[in-house]
Amino acid sequence: KTELRRAMAELLEALIKMPQVRIKNPDYMRSVFEEVIDGNSQKLQVISDFDQTLTKDHEDGERCLTTFGIFHSTPQLPDGYCEQSEVLYHKYHPMEVHPDLSVEEKTPYMVQWYKDSEQLLVGADVSKENLKNHIYSSKTIFRDGSRDIFDALKKAGVPVLVFSAGVGDVVRHALEKHHMLLDNVRIISNFLNWDSESGKLAGFQGDMIHVFNKNQRAVAAHEEYFSLLANRPNVILMGDNEGDAAMGHGVQNPKAMIKIGFLYHHAKERLEKFMDMFDIVLIDDQTMDVPKYILNYVI
Ligand code: C5P
Repeated sequence: KTELRRAMAELLEALIKMPQVRIKNPDYMRSVFEEVIDGNSQKLQVISDFDQTLTKDHEDGERCLTTFGIFHSTPQLPDGYCEQSEVLYHKYHPMEVHPDLSVEEKTPYMVQWYKDSEQLLVGADVSKENLKNHIYSSKTIFRDGSRDIFDALKKAGVPVLVFSAGVGDVVRHALEKHHMLLDNVRIISNFLNWDSESGKLAGFQGDMIHVFNKNQRAVAAHEEYFSLLANRPNVILMGDNEGDAAMGHGVQNPKAMIKIGFLYHHAKERLEKFMDMFDIVLIDDQTMDVPKYILNYVI
């Protein structure tokens, strides 16, 4: 117990000193760390968002492509497709990261964005093979350390859920390409649906997951996953959006959850909201250094 207390105090002290780290409630954090470190890899599961969480938001002053962005640059998509999806991005992305709107106010815009995006891709003559080749030849910019974390979690036998409101097929191939689709990794996302007769795109499969419905409803279809993990009540959750904080709603008998939020757009204005929703907020940190540091104490 003394050893545990020492480790937890050392971890918290180190995190607080890091310039990009904000922790709203260190006392609460202390008790959560104690529980998670005590439970070690046996009691742990990890839930992570994909776009701008496992991947970077920007590199060398350039924005990194999201899974939708990679999908939209598939060469076989019809003329004008890219321009139209850009128009949608510039219309809806500012609403997603708007500092003054609540999640309730943002949600209808997100629903409409996904509906418009789906409509745009219906009938496109892109095969599964075309898409896979395109993803394999595209640059996916994972955060420095994402692959190390996946390797460490695999080694420790810790299940990882990648919960993405992006394009599932892009998530899958990007992980595969970087040797991160290991057998402890599961993806919940928007997978494309191909028309079995024409071979053309027919939309997305199942209910749409958008950035603000990663909650109980979206995980209802994946209840069996969380049932299998009912003996893993401790969670490390990582996201970059207010909606991502709800990704742990499906966890059965949750005990201790460390919610880590990556923040950059309108960081100053959104910081308070982020600190209410995430236990640890990382400001413009394009690495996995902090999650890696925490995991070192747990697994
Ligand atoms: O993996 P994650 O849940 O973060 O993926 C969703 C991201 O995809 C959102 O942050 C959103 O900005 C982006 N998006 C997009 N084009 C769309 C819909 C969402 O770039 N049509």
